[in-house]
Amino acid sequence: MKATARAHTNIALIKYWGKRDEEKILPTNNSLSLTLDGFHTTTTVTFEEDLTEDTFVLDEQPVTGEQYERVTQYLDLIRTYAGKEDLFADVYSINAVPTAAGFASSASGFAALAAAATRALDLNVTDQELSMLTRQGSGSACRSIYGGFAEWEKGERADGSDSYAVPIVPADYWDIRVAAVVLSADKKDVSSREGMKRTVDTSVFYQGWLDNIPNDLNAIKLGIKERNFEQVGQIAEANCLKMHATTLGAHPPFTYWHDTTMAVMQTVQTMRANGIPVYFTIDAGPNVKVLYLPEHEALVEQTLREAPGVSDVVLSRAGNGISYL
Ligand code: ADP
Ligand code: DP6
Repeated sequence: MKATARAHTNIALIKYWGKRDEEKILPTNNSLSLTLDGFHTTTTVTFEEDLTEDTFVLDEQPVTGEQYERVTQYLDLIRTYAGKEDLFADVYSINAVPTAAGFASSASGFAALAAAATRALDLNVTDQELSMLTRQGSGSACRSIYGGFAEWEKGERADGSDSYAVPIVPADYWDIRVAAVVLSADKKDVSSREGMKRTVDTSVFYQGWLDNIPNDLNAIKLGIKERNFEQVGQIAEANCLKMHATTLGAHPPFTYWHDTTMAVMQTVQTMRANGIPVYFTIDAGPNVKVLYLPEHEALVEQTLREAPGVSDVVLSRAGNGISYL
């Protein structure tokens, strides 16, 4: 009863930002992402009859507290799904991605955990079922089941049975690239979960965010199908700015941006003014991801490395979905 799975992170180009049901992790809007080959989690789950509790080791360190609770509560869900409530597991995970710093470790982490746990229990799940199960660990993780571009359909049903991700085009459809600009790998002050809740509950800009989603989604999907980089980049950058604007309208107001975040945003805009098609997007953290095409890789990397406050630049191509090792 042991299995190892690898999942990559994904970067949302149309952001998931808000829940209609916090317990089942049901979102208020559809979101769309690109899976990245540069960051991943590898997780081994071993269920054993003689264990009396779950253990969780992350990056060679035994984990307790909130992060442990999240994993063991997630295993409860899988145990209930499998009808094996009395079986505990050792979870051993390696993050090839900074944890809790806005690089979507929760996405690769929960996708790898869901895949390894279901496989260890010999559950024969479809990709759709796996995406639905993964969603309940961390929302954005449900998109990491697939490679390339994926859309998480928010669904309408109260039980969440129609809320899962679907593939749009696979990784090899389009060689679009992403530079992850590392400004800070520190744990962020406001988690995505907490930040989106505060925004839904209090932001005066939240309705405006929701009203804009359908147009952004339709236009970006068309751009992806046609491999229209400018269209995809413009919509992704604007969607990111709208998401971050909602945090400024929350009570109490907050922002994920540092001064260095804004400096990188300006660097990207300057490159664009000089004729290089590049666009940024930012998740719930200070770090910036820059979309570019292969022919501009050397220039984009060098320019970003020279921007103020940049400690590293990690280049990614489109990544694949779940794999079992
Ligand atoms: P991030 O930007 O890294 O996704 P979040 O605050 O949204 O930041 O999520 C980070 C949380 O995800 C961690 O605190 C931990 O609870 C969980 N997590 C990260 N990596 C793993 C992993 N490999 N296995 C299980 N849970 C993980
Ligand atoms: C800004 O998926 O981390 O990265 O569902 O509460 O675990 P929970 O939140 P999470 O939020 C991700 C928010 C985002 C946008 C996105 O990835 O779509």
